[in-house]
Amino acid sequence: MSVTRPEEITAAAVASFEGCPDPRVRELMQALTRHLHALVAEVGLTRDEWERAIALLTETGRITDEHRQEFILWSDALGLSMLVDALASERPTGATESTVVGPFWAAGSPLRGYGESISEQPGGEPLWIHGTVRGVSGEPIPAAEIDVWQNAENRLYAVQDPDAPEEHLRGRFRSKDDGGFAFLAIRPTAYPIPADGPVGKMLEAAGRHPWRPAHVHLAVHAAGYESVATHIFDADSDYLDSDAVFAVKPSLIKRFEPRAPDDPDRPPGVSGLWFSLHTDLVLAPVAAVTRRRISTADPRH
Ligand code: BEZ
Ligand code: FE
Repeated sequence: MSVTRPEEITAAAVASFEGCPDPRVRELMQALTRHLHALVAEVGLTRDEWERAIALLTETGRITDEHRQEFILWSDALGLSMLVDALASERPTGATESTVVGPFWAAGSPLRGYGESISEQPGGEPLWIHGTVRGVSGEPIPAAEIDVWQNAENRLYAVQDPDAPEEHLRGRFRSKDDGGFAFLAIRPTAYPIPADGPVGKMLEAAGRHPWRPAHVHLAVHAAGYESVATHIFDADSDYLDSDAVFAVKPSLIKRFEPRAPDDPDRPPGVSGLWFSLHTDLVLAPVAAVTRRRISTADPRH
């Protein structure tokens, strides 16, 4: 039987997955087909627009390599990464909230000691970050791993900057027996997401800016607890209200306290004006994080 009307084409394409042996693959492929068809029908996509969309996807594949992940950048810039995060992690009240990981995390950051600096070269205003890793019930968590990465004064992460030492502004720390952690960072700067590819073209065509507010990334892992990848956002940064990747959550915005050069609490190796932040990192026990689903079958979602 031939299918020629739009609704018939959609129905036939959806039905083609009916025999899919894996029910989750069937659900995903049928929903993908239904939603893609609905999008095309809703906007009345022209042949020319379809060709331009294919060209954008082709360019996305071409520009993606082991250093550049333009597909994830699409996901970030369209808010998809944060939607997946929101659905994946309804954490108990009080637990540190998660946000995007982003493309600049690198495996194997150096293990550094309590209170050490993550800078491998001078530059930036010192920022002392310290607190306790603890559970939602208040118990201190010893031996948690805190993986930290951030950008430099020139806005670049070490993985983007051929002139920076590979391990610059990143490091892994272990919490002490009382859950305490501390490290010396620098004040992060706002920066644009990579905008020289298809995502950048989309942002420009849409009149959107590529900027992210200043932040430090942390990923915290501890046995028996859910890992969390999060940010600490600088409360004084620009773009907190218009993050290009929608990753700001109010609980993650923190004020860095200015401290005088002669402050007796000045960390070793620090001179001049410095900043400090006391913040706890609060983990949920394994299995306390529940998955959410907005709708199971309603095709309008
Ligand atoms: C980041 O924070 O490193 C980031 C996140 C999403 C897209 C680009 C950068
Ligand atoms: Fe970042």
